[in-house]
Amino acid sequence: MTTARNTPRGEAPHLPLALIVDDDPDFASSLELLVKREQFQTRTAASLAETRRAIAADRPDVILLDMGLPDGDGLEFVRSEKASLGAEVIVITGQASVDSAVEALREGVLDYLVKPIDRARLRATLANVARTRALKTQVHDLRGDLRNLGRFGPMVGRSKAMQSVYDLIERVAPTDAHVFITGESGTGKELVAQTIHQLSPRHEGPMLPINCGAVSPQLIESELFGHERGSFTGAEKLHKGYFERARAGTVLLDEITEMPIELQVKLLRVLEAGVLMRVGGTEPIPIDARVVAASNRDPAEAVKQGKLREDLFYRLNVFPIHLPPLRERDDDLELLAEHFLEELNASSGQKKSWTRAALDRLRAHRMPGNVRELKNLVQRAFILAGDEIWRESVPIADGLAEPSSPTKLQVQMGSSIADTEQRLILATLEHFQGDKEKAAQTLGISLKTLYNRLNVYSAFRAGAEDR
Ligand SMILES: Nc1ncnc2c1ncn2[C@@H]1O[C@H](COP(=O)(O)OP(=O)(O)OP(=O)(O)O)[C@@H](O)[C@H]1O
Ligand SMILES: [Mg+2]
Repeated sequence: MTTARNTPRGEAPHLPLALIVDDDPDFASSLELLVKREQFQTRTAASLAETRRAIAADRPDVILLDMGLPDGDGLEFVRSEKASLGAEVIVITGQASVDSAVEALREGVLDYLVKPIDRARLRATLANVARTRALKTQVHDLRGDLRNLGRFGPMVGRSKAMQSVYDLIERVAPTDAHVFITGESGTGKELVAQTIHQLSPRHEGPMLPINCGAVSPQLIESELFGHERGSFTGAEKLHKGYFERARAGTVLLDEITEMPIELQVKLLRVLEAGVLMRVGGTEPIPIDARVVAASNRDPAEAVKQGKLREDLFYRLNVFPIHLPPLRERDDDLELLAEHFLEELNASSGQKKSWTRAALDRLRAHRMPGNVRELKNLVQRAFILAGDEIWRESVPIADGLAEPSSPTKLQVQMGSSIADTEQRLILATLEHFQGDKEKAAQTLGISLKTLYNRLNVYSAFRAGAEDR
């Protein structure tokens, strides 16, 4: 996408470019008109030799290629040069033949159109080309942002280790390949799955995560594949499962190693056939969901222990992505700490900032819960601290303090009573791990007052809920 294109005067450089290849000039110019109406620039070529020249000069986004050309066969050309075309191909033919259509699709062409051209179909196919190009541009721009700011979509970090992760996401997102994400607890596996979804052609569809370890083994099959009315006691209504609801979207099979082994067998069969059957159903239903799996166990180890079926693992592990633990990400910890603090400042209208000592204390902590643990620590420090977050407000036990000693709340001169009250209430609640009764009792207020106050702070809590 970085290659400059020599754009004739009057053509918008940002429009995608279509190269129309046909030796019949009348047909070529009428097709040109149709394609222009879909917001494409166009070039034409009448032979394979001209096509090669046009590709080298103009780098088209899509080639609409006639099958029979004076100097050779269009499909043969695609077969031998697909890798270097750098463009999508739509094959056009005068005569429909099932064999050549199948062959064309096998060569990876985007579509196969028969003359006279069906406009609606051409439109849909070109819209697909434009979307893919827009996504590629977006991903490319994201790469630019990342170098400058240490961000990739919703992900923060600029360490080498994370740059490699971004590279992988960038490569796999536009495809439909299964992805298997591994990494310690809290390293951002679900966030990676979301990023892949957002950067994929399916981003307008839903992204549904299911935690395979959290659903009871009796229910998980119907959760995944749905059930028909009356298929078992309690099945009062027809229920569509995750795979059906994620139509045109993505399913995240989280904690896949916790899925009961019998269901793994079924899942494999469903993935291989591309169709599912609801529990108690007889109609096969085609699947249109991309499958991403995640686990914080080593999947090879889980296979050895018989927790994950080897054949399912290979099926899902088409594109593995491993997330490094936070301790292997250089300075990302500080970048993340700043990022989470900024989020809290933005959602509460405050302007708190880190002191060097507080950041050093965070860095010195081993952080077994990785990014999630860091995020929680930042939220708690935010509650405890005044405008500057001091070392003492970072709630990490350092071996010197009594484990049960209450954390200190820091109040600066110049703070308002309302602000101090809010911080005292939230800090007390934090100290009692969310037990509202104990907190209210200690604060000497009624439970009702506590609830009222918390409602007022709810904008803040919306940001702090993730733990
Ligand atoms: N690189 C990152 N940038 C910004 N936020 C992140 C990043 N990585 C993780 N987070 C945040 O940290 C929290 C934990 O991330 P996530 O839930 O994706 O981790 P996980 O690996 O799926 O955890 P678990 O192993 O517990 O399932 C989320 O709030 C997520 O938004
Ligand atoms: Mg997760």
